[in-house]
Amino acid sequence: MSYSKIVGTGSYLPPKIMTNEQWSDLVDTSHEWIVERTGIESRHIADSDETAAGMAVKAAQKALDAANLKAQDIQLIIVATATPDYVFPSTACVVQKYLNIPVTIAFDVQAACTGFIYALSIADQFIKNNQVQNALVIGTEVMSRLVDWSDRNTCVLFGDGAGAVVLQKSGTPGILQTKLYADGHLGSLLAADNLHMADTTRHLPQLNVTQNKGKFIEELYPFIRMKGQHVFKAAVSRLGELVKEIQSDPALSNEPIDWLVPHQANHRIIQATADKLGLSMEKVILTVAHHANTSSASIPLALDTAIRDGRIQPGQNLLFEAFGAGLTWGSAFVKY
Ligand code: ACO
Repeated sequence: MSYSKIVGTGSYLPPKIMTNEQWSDLVDTSHEWIVERTGIESRHIADSDETAAGMAVKAAQKALDAANLKAQDIQLIIVATATPDYVFPSTACVVQKYLNIPVTIAFDVQAACTGFIYALSIADQFIKNNQVQNALVIGTEVMSRLVDWSDRNTCVLFGDGAGAVVLQKSGTPGILQTKLYADGHLGSLLAADNLHMADTTRHLPQLNVTQNKGKFIEELYPFIRMKGQHVFKAAVSRLGELVKEIQSDPALSNEPIDWLVPHQANHRIIQATADKLGLSMEKVILTVAHHANTSSASIPLALDTAIRDGRIQPGQNLLFEAFGAGLTWGSAFVKY
């Protein structure tokens, strides 16, 4: 039987750090409110010359180095991002170009904060089906460009960064199980318009058609808008159901979880999931305080942090879980 194993990780955080105090100079908020409601103390913010692809290249190079592999060893690149530099080419193709990876399979996945788990699961299928030997799976986001810097409900929650893993075909257990879910009926709880595509008035004079603004969207607003409490409740209940499913899977009954590596959106959501798993917070990799919510980058960033500081050791069982816009949610149970 063949498995996909994580054989290298890497990450990149922009050097510029923005504290809660700095946000409280810009909007009506406070360090105390942000810490109490989310656990966030600071976040990294991309400089004007940094992009999702540029950060992805830096994280991926580190993952390749950690795996002792070269660009020509990679046969699949999947980038999870909701903040790509271009509509096309895909961020994965830009990464391929800058890492000088030869002709191969490369594409992006958009599942918001669950994007990395979707990308990991897809790469796992390619490897298990013997189509590729080595895959690069990356999550990268410049969330600071997708938030309205005057909206205190959302602006303080997000940060920028990238994380990457190299997955390799192996005869010993690696990814043991992935679960992916989406419910588009709840999409309006958390959305950001792509202004260019959503604005049907752009070509109206040429096309001579009536605009359909309002058919799919309430208003044109090119930033994140979120019904925070609804998203919070949906996240806690969906992740709770996911935990039950994982716990009742006979294939995992002899596999205790050594580390929970959750999506880092909110300390309270993470705590609720750990409680349902019966795990103490000592077994949870937490980066939300200093990374904030980096969407699809948050799990590989947390993973790389804990591998490099020696907490995560070979042979240990890791549970990744995430929840995000779509709504989407999912998990990956991984033997490292
Ligand atoms: N500073 C001070 N007050 C604030 C701030 C802020 N930054 N933001 C909101 N408030 C106020 C609100 O205006 C409201 O005031 P009001 O009672 O006078 O109307 C009050 O605080 C309470 O607001 P709530 O939204 O009810 O606060 P809540 O306790 O729910 O916390 C939060 C808000 C942190 C956003 C929480 O709901 C949350 O974490 N939701 C989930 C977010 C998430 O997980 N997103 C995941 C995916 S992101 C993605 O996929 C891209």
